[in-house]
Amino acid sequence: MSVDLSTHYLGLRLINPLIASASPATDSTDSIMRLADAGIGAVVLPSLFEEQITHIETEIARVVESGFAAFGEAAEGFLPEMVDYNLGPDGYLTMIESARSAVGIPVIASLNGATPGGWVRHAEHLESAGASAIELNLYMLATDAEVDGRGMEDRYMEVVRSVVDTVTVPVAVKLTPFFSSLPAIARRLVDEGGAAGLVLFNRLYQPEIDLDTLTVEPNLRLSTSAELNLPLRWIALLRDIVDGSIAATTGIHTAHDVLKALLVGADAAMMASAILRLGPGHVASVLAAVEGWMSERDYRSVSQLKGSMSLGSVPDPESFVRANYLHEMASWSTELP
Ligand SMILES: Cc1cc2nc3c(=O)[nH]c(=O)nc-3n(C[C@H](O)[C@H](O)[C@H](O)COP(=O)(O)O)c2cc1C
Repeated sequence: MSVDLSTHYLGLRLINPLIASASPATDSTDSIMRLADAGIGAVVLPSLFEEQITHIETEIARVVESGFAAFGEAAEGFLPEMVDYNLGPDGYLTMIESARSAVGIPVIASLNGATPGGWVRHAEHLESAGASAIELNLYMLATDAEVDGRGMEDRYMEVVRSVVDTVTVPVAVKLTPFFSSLPAIARRLVDEGGAAGLVLFNRLYQPEIDLDTLTVEPNLRLSTSAELNLPLRWIALLRDIVDGSIAATTGIHTAHDVLKALLVGADAAMMASAILRLGPGHVASVLAAVEGWMSERDYRSVSQLKGSMSLGSVPDPESFVRANYLHEMASWSTELP
């Protein structure tokens, strides 16, 4: 029996629910073509960062104000490692155009920022270059004790609203799990902010302390499937609350991970670490295994499967909420080794 793997995400029709999320695996047309050949449903380009956009804008303003025709040494000298990552604001537009003409699947551009400001208007260039949608990764840490939870959420809303007002393509918001009430902010982002969907969850890279040098070092480790449980639970809880698309990210490595994400209510499952570790060919084997699993159990389509284990659909919703907690605690033996 053939299985219809197609899904809708942000109003876009995808041939299947597997998306390559923002990472170096999507930073060239060549890798995007390899992912498309392996059957990926869509790709998200690596993020263009607020700092890159504001840096270029500041440099332009400096040159205009000073009357110099040349940028001087700062024009290309700053943020070199970031330029290597995603080619910088101009190269990014070329990458969108090139990817769009090379593959038939949706190409989603990504903006990563933390503060409201003029940089968000860059979204319109991404749209003009052909981005099918924009993913907004709001990487804001609450470090100011004067700003409470609602204040942080208002900042999120301001950035999202200004991007949504700038473009006509759909906008997805990639969130961290660190909110007092995820249902409240999730609904607010969609209903008030105009987001077409949410990407759950952004993986925070925690700095490491180097005991030899006593310095704070970046610490980027690839994920494992064990990290999927957090997004799974929250997608199950939010599915019936949020009137927009939901994509799962963090811990999607295998066909079983994709299936679990769909069952709790995700419209799409995003993969980064597994592709970086195993290459684009991994996508084809995951998709074949998803199809095989569904076919063996007589599922005809992703839409039939999707959300059938969300909070509102499971016979025992408490298992997603508090009862699970007591059960887990009680399941451990009191006999210590
Ligand atoms: C090397 C690397 C670079 C990444 N760059 C970005 C990025 O530019 N923008 C973004 O939103 N997420 C970025 N991510 C996060 C991934 O898109 C993804 O959300 C995260 O890795 C969790 O998914 P995974 O468990 O499949 O790796 C990056 C991840 C890795 C490993």
